[in-house]
Amino acid sequence: MSETGFNLSEYLKDRRDLFNQYLKAGLEEISAEPELVRAMQYSITAGGKRLRPVLCMAAAECVFGSMEKAIAPAVAIEMIHTYSLIHDDLPAMDNDDLRRGKPTCHKKFSEATAVLAGDALLTHAFSILSNPGLICEESLHPENPIRIISRISLAAGPEGMVSGQVMDMNALKNTDSKDLDYLKSMHAMKTGAMIMASVETGALAAGGDDQSVRRLSSYAENIGMAFQVADDILNVKGDPAVMGKAAGSDAAADKMTFPSILGLEASRKYAFDLVSKAIDSLASFGGRADALREIATYIIERDR
Ligand code: IPE
Ligand code: IPE
Ligand code: MG
Ligand code: MG
Repeated sequence: MSETGFNLSEYLKDRRDLFNQYLKAGLEEISAEPELVRAMQYSITAGGKRLRPVLCMAAAECVFGSMEKAIAPAVAIEMIHTYSLIHDDLPAMDNDDLRRGKPTCHKKFSEATAVLAGDALLTHAFSILSNPGLICEESLHPENPIRIISRISLAAGPEGMVSGQVMDMNALKNTDSKDLDYLKSMHAMKTGAMIMASVETGALAAGGDDQSVRRLSSYAENIGMAFQVADDILNVKGDPAVMGKAAGSDAAADKMTFPSILGLEASRKYAFDLVSKAIDSLASFGGRADALREIATYIIERDR
């Protein structure tokens, strides 16, 4: 329990449980080749933290909306996130065997099935966004539907996550012209864009006004970067059994990371400063933003 009396673990559990119910029902509705559906379900239900969906729902609540309004974008975003992890783990990319505590999708099924399960999750996400009532009746008439689709497609596509992944492939330590600015812009695209889209679309779906969305966007930009700094630190210090994925892989691949450039202590301080800035952006929301404040701190204190 925090000083304000806010119980984050209870909050996270409630939101995750609700989200998982809608996700499960949505997955059951997919009528497609059984092996493909099994691979999609396997990866998306393997045990992710559901950070992006919870942020989406918390942003909706923060602007006086109902969290159910945000369910459709939350499901779509988690599908896109899961696709990105399936492809990220492939031998052609990070070649990882463990994800969310289980064998990666291509290890469990086949490389071809993993590629296709990723394709299917990405595409189905946009089917949900264009027909949100399929997932949740209260999401049926979101405010700003086209802005939501546009925001998510920009974040996931070539101007966001996909270019971030390309930059990541080229981000080897000690390479000329690669520096802290490169690392920051890589992470803003690779991880930050989808985290920003989660918060912004939750607020948009619930009818948040432009000023609220701008403030929440600034919050999300800072926690997005802090999330990635924490991820880099966990890759050095974390326990693979707790994280459900490999540790030490960045150093083994000679990757440029915050700890490799700044060192561990300065990286921790940087993450802490980002979280303070994020929390400052929430001042005008008062108690309605308590969940978002607590999540910001959780992002840098997490062990998985
Ligand atoms: C992992 O994201 C990939 C990065 C963007 C660093 P998460 O840490 O949110 O993964 P899950 O969803 O909990 O598995
Ligand atoms: C995964 O990034 C992020 C995306 C798929 C966009 P990383 O490769 O850095 O993260 P992990 O360590 O596999 O989760
Ligand atoms: Mg990667
Ligand atoms: Mg990876």
